[in-house]
Amino acid sequence: MRVVLGIETSCDETAAAVVSETGDPNSPWRVCSNVVASQINLHREWGGVVPELASRQHLRDICGVVERSLDSGNVSWSELDGIAVTQGPGLVGSLLVGVAFAKAVSASLDVPLIPVHHLAGHIESLVVENGQVLTPAVVLVVSGGHTNLYLVNDKSDGRFDFRLIGRTRDDAAGEAFDKVATLLDLGYPGGPIIDRIARDGNDEAVKFPVARMTHSDRNASPDLSTPVGIAETRRARRLEFSFSGLKTAVKRHVQKSHESAGSSGSLPKGDVADICASFQRVVVHSLLDRMFFAAQEFGARSVGIAGGVAANSRLRSEGMVRASALQFPLFMPSMDLATDNAAMIGAAGLRLLRCGKTAQLNLNATASLDL
Ligand code: KG4
Ligand code: ZN
Repeated sequence: MRVVLGIETSCDETAAAVVSETGDPNSPWRVCSNVVASQINLHREWGGVVPELASRQHLRDICGVVERSLDSGNVSWSELDGIAVTQGPGLVGSLLVGVAFAKAVSASLDVPLIPVHHLAGHIESLVVENGQVLTPAVVLVVSGGHTNLYLVNDKSDGRFDFRLIGRTRDDAAGEAFDKVATLLDLGYPGGPIIDRIARDGNDEAVKFPVARMTHSDRNASPDLSTPVGIAETRRARRLEFSFSGLKTAVKRHVQKSHESAGSSGSLPKGDVADICASFQRVVVHSLLDRMFFAAQEFGARSVGIAGGVAANSRLRSEGMVRASALQFPLFMPSMDLATDNAAMIGAAGLRLLRCGKTAQLNLNATASLDL
């Protein structure tokens, strides 16, 4: 059974994991260790990730994190069959630390270097958690940097084929959570904080607008000369997300609340909880409406939600209710595997290693990279 070291440094988590094959096609990966050094405390005072600070912190942490992942996985350097690393997308200075480290280890151990796309890693987290997903699957990858819908199919060589069928035309959903938390002075990162506060709020208290995709835009098919083209264009629009209007609506609502209270201090706790719950409701509905619409349109056999926002409790619970009503198996990662981690990178790396998709030592980190 092959064993790889996975390394992930695309944003603000320095992560390393040891992942091995199991020999069982239905549950192909075993996570032997999964270590994450979070930089949240470092970036908190700036209200978001500061790229320069992030890359310096990765440099400080990477050796210890990798050593800990080997120790807790009970695996020695000589047992590794490959080094899988996130090549992109992400912050280039952060990615470079992981890529340079992985190249050095691969060269010194003389084992393959495996470049992994960060979002392929998030999608692989579904397999790590649940075993093989039923394809074709519609998978929503929803994080601080992305809100993408993929139609995932199996390739004959054992890899996945990823077709991008929808994405956000402005902010990512996680980014909207983070920005709304900043507007409400709740701290960073906003997603988990809003999730927690929303539990005490009334989700119908504020009627925030739901984005409807009616304008022509860059992602829609431009072919409007045939009925098929028109139908395709309509469908493409129904699969697009938009969160910046919602964020602006929250901002206006907060300003108005301050004006009517005649103060610029903090809003009453109950109002903040209502705003969080109402905002979260709109985001969750927008995500799930499009995911299930896509699943029906594309004849999916299952649906999946991956990425940091997949940790959201309302998205998870409402996703399960809707999936069971529509009779779609729903795959989601556990909390540890939803946010950035290296187990998903190691697992995606093993899938690539099996079909020889390895890299040379001239591999470079790439800030924007298509899947
Ligand atoms: O996948 P991830 O760890 O990093 C990126 O690749 O971006 O996702 C981080 C994002 C952040 O925007 C964070 O606020 C959001 O995921 N997030 C959540 C929750 N936990 C993390 N959003 C909503 N609810 C949560 N419970
Ligand atoms: Zn991520």
